This record gives sequence, C-alpha cells and structure tokens, in this order.
Amino acid sequence: MIIIPGPASLELGSKVAELSGAKAMPIEYKFFPDGESYIRFTGDVKGANVVLIQTIGPPQDTHLVQALLMADAAKDLGARRIMLVAPYFAYTRQDRRFLEGEAVSLQTATRLLKAVGVKELITINSHSPNLLEKTGIKVRNLSAIGLLAGYFKAQGFSGALSLAPGKRAAIMAVEAERILKGGCDFLKTKRDLVTGKAVVEVGKLDVKDRDAIIFDDIISTGNTMAEAVRIVKELGAKRVYAACVHPLLIGGAGEKILKNGAEKIVGTDTVPSPIGAISVAPLIADALRRRL
Ligand code: R5P
Repeated sequence: MIIIPGPASLELGSKVAELSGAKAMPIEYKFFPDGESYIRFTGDVKGANVVLIQTIGPPQDTHLVQALLMADAAKDLGARRIMLVAPYFAYTRQDRRFLEGEAVSLQTATRLLKAVGVKELITINSHSPNLLEKTGIKVRNLSAIGLLAGYFKAQGFSGALSLAPGKRAAIMAVEAERILKGGCDFLKTKRDLVTGKAVVEVGKLDVKDRDAIIFDDIISTGNTMAEAVRIVKELGAKRVYAACVHPLLIGGAGEKILKNGAEKIVGTDTVPSPIGAISVAPLIADALRRRL
C-alpha cells in the first residue's frame, strides 16, 4: 500500500501514513499562473494499492480537481487499485434536486471520481451516506463523533446532555450519548431552500442547569450552531459547548457561535481550522488496517 497525501491533506496524510506504518509518497504540486492545478508523483505506483488522502473542503472545486488528477495519474501509471480518503467530502448537501432544474452536485462529483478509477472511498460523517453508497464506488463512512465525545469525557463532562441541531443530526447525539451517558435530544430545524439558512425552532428540551454539548457534522457559516446555542442557553442550560466533525468555519462562524453563548467550539482536523484539536488520523489508519 502506498499512501499519497494530497495538497489539501499533507499533514493529516503524513500522520495516517506514520500510524499505518505504510510508505508515504510525496507529490509535487503547483498552480500555473492562470490558476490551473499541476500534480506529479515522485515515485512508481505501478501494480500498487494506492491510497490518496485528499480532503475536499474549501476551496472545494480546486481540491476535487486535484483529487481527480491524482486518481487519473495513478490509473494511467498502472496502479492496481485506487482508494480515495476524503475525510470531508464536499457537495453532499446537494444530494438531490430540491428545486426544479438544479444540478445534483454530489452525483456529478462521484461520477467523476468513478470515471478516473476510484474504486473505494473512505469519508467521515458524510452528510449523505446513502447517496454516496449508490454511486458504485465502495464507500466507508466513518464516524468521528466517538472521538469528540471521548474528548469531552476526558475533560470531565461525563453526564453532560448530548444534543443535535435537527432530526437528521440526531443520530450524532445518540452516538455521543453512548459515551457521555447524560441523555440525548435534538432541536428542530427548517432550512430555507433558496438561501440555505437554517431556522432552529424551540422545542421541549429539558436542559435547565445542565451542561449541554451540541454535536453537528458541519459548521459552515455557523448560523445553525449559533442559533442552537442561543436557544439552549435561553432554555436555562448551565454551560453549552459546540462540537463538530468538519469545522469549515466560513467568515466569522466561530465568533458568532461564541457570541451566542458557547463556552468553546471543538472540532476535528478533517479540514484545517484553528479549532481542530482532535485528529481523525487514528480513525483512518484503523480503517485502512482493517481493510488489509
Ligand atoms: C445541515 O444539515 C448540517 O448538518 C449543518 O447543520 C449545516 O451544514 C451547518 O451549516 P451552517 O453552519 O451554514 O449553518
């Protein structure tokens, strides 16, 4: 197995290679003056099982093209099998046609990967695991919620309430609860199909004087999490923490969440960010080990 960390995941890719005891092959990459991406492998991949590690976070389009170039090059150069590890896989929120005439972006992204020879995909807390599985690429959707909940447990938060913003995210609260053992619940959210902005609705939540941790897969603009934090605080929670797997943190997302009353925001390193305290490298290395 040869691990090739892509330009978007150089640090994470090296950590995974080190933990898996596998050979990491560096690549050369650059941008031409007009912005086009360039990729060159520095070693031989002929006959090898190649694992490309490239998160597809912002700038998503560039990172997707780099992943395509790497996979296609590996295919051309005779790799036996190509796996892509994309800890964050963009476009999963546009996994169907919500409004007439829309492009189904996730379908396009996965069709492209399949066309350049990607046979397997490992990702983490995908927003749309079901659709990914229908693409014909073998998909493993890992969960980093255990790592996040474990972090809070180690910080003395056993018994804290695990919450999620939205019914779809409730599974994350259930998973965290198995570790924190303080009960779980979810807030109701509605999303505007044009602006994409979520409206968090107040439901019945028994949070009074409790420590609560809100788990979500993605923090992008931070609107969803900031609203959830505000409501949980208003309902009388003692301390509220925000935890997410993919801290995209667009604009002032982090500040917004803290301003609304969160004590702290904790994320993983699926995408580079200032709050990625928890590394998913052991999770990925373990998944690669189990596959061999
Ligand atoms: C939505 O369904 C996701 O789970 C996240 O809640 C959402 O992507 C967060 O987006 P934003 O931070 O822009 O509100």
